[in-house]
Amino acid sequence: MVYGFIGLGNMAGAILRGMAGSGNFSCDTLCGFNRSPEKTQNLAQEIGLVPCESAKEVAEKADVLVLGVKPQMLPEVLEPIKGAIHPDKLVVTIAAGKGFSFYASYFGENVPLVRVMPNICAQVLCSASAVCPNAACRPEQVELVRAMFRSVGEVYDIPEAQFSAFSALGGASGAFVQMYIDALSSAGVKAGLSRALAQKIACQATLGAAKLCQETGEHPMALVDKVTSPGGTTIEGVHVLKKQGFESAVIEAVNAIIEKDRRLG
Ligand SMILES: NC(=O)c1ccc[n+]([C@@H]2O[C@H](COP(=O)([O-])OP(=O)(O)OC[C@H]3O[C@@H](n4cnc5c(N)ncnc54)[C@H](OP(=O)(O)O)[C@@H]3O)[C@@H](O)[C@H]2O)c1
Repeated sequence: MVYGFIGLGNMAGAILRGMAGSGNFSCDTLCGFNRSPEKTQNLAQEIGLVPCESAKEVAEKADVLVLGVKPQMLPEVLEPIKGAIHPDKLVVTIAAGKGFSFYASYFGENVPLVRVMPNICAQVLCSASAVCPNAACRPEQVELVRAMFRSVGEVYDIPEAQFSAFSALGGASGAFVQMYIDALSSAGVKAGLSRALAQKIACQATLGAAKLCQETGEHPMALVDKVTSPGGTTIEGVHVLKKQGFESAVIEAVNAIIEKDRRLG
């Protein structure tokens, strides 16, 4: 089984590193092509990726073809390779905002295609990736794609109609978390900690809290209850966040992303 990647940027590079590092995919089955040759050369040196001379060569060699370019580059990439894409290939796309009908206009509806929405945390093997197959996919093909993306984090089966909601929650929310870490670090600096130490503490506290919620499966507010002793200090901070509209700010931010995504789609 040959896995071919067209576009070897941040996301495709992270997926390839994850696949190679997992030990479940032999490096000589991973090939790719990128517009600027340095990224292909770097991955060839780093993980043993087999370099290709063109997108067409990748499309011809691959059993599983991964489209790793930006959505606006897709027409330029798909037009010259569409003749090489037939129903015995499996196409995987990570491009945001392009639905099945867009790809069907190039390959028809009989080519198995899986839409995947990973996030940038794939770089540290902690992506939350949504997976959605078209009607031409067989169950074992979907499982193969799940296995690829499990090598860079968690995988969720999400219907195409919910991709906008997933993108906001699983992808864009990463920016909110970074903003929260920055604000927490600044609060630490205000309280006299060095910026570097405050950031380390903010990262670890955020990571730990997420892990606690994930591993216990408890409702987050039950965990808040456990750390707010009556008349204590933490409840003072929780009260201020509630008064300042913390929850509605987050909900409105997610809504704004979903609405914009739908307008663009
Ligand atoms: N980054 C994220 O957080 C994220 C999350 C979810 C989904 N995605 C999706 O992932 C895809 C890639 O995003 P990215 O962040 O990895 O972007 P990126 O780092 O810019 O990677 C895109 C790569 O495609 C290459 N490329 C452009 N045109 C090409 C062509 N005609 N033939 C071959 N290679 C070509 C670019 O080469 P050059 O080196 O020449 O520029 C670049 O290396 C996008 O569709 C995006 O929607 C990204």
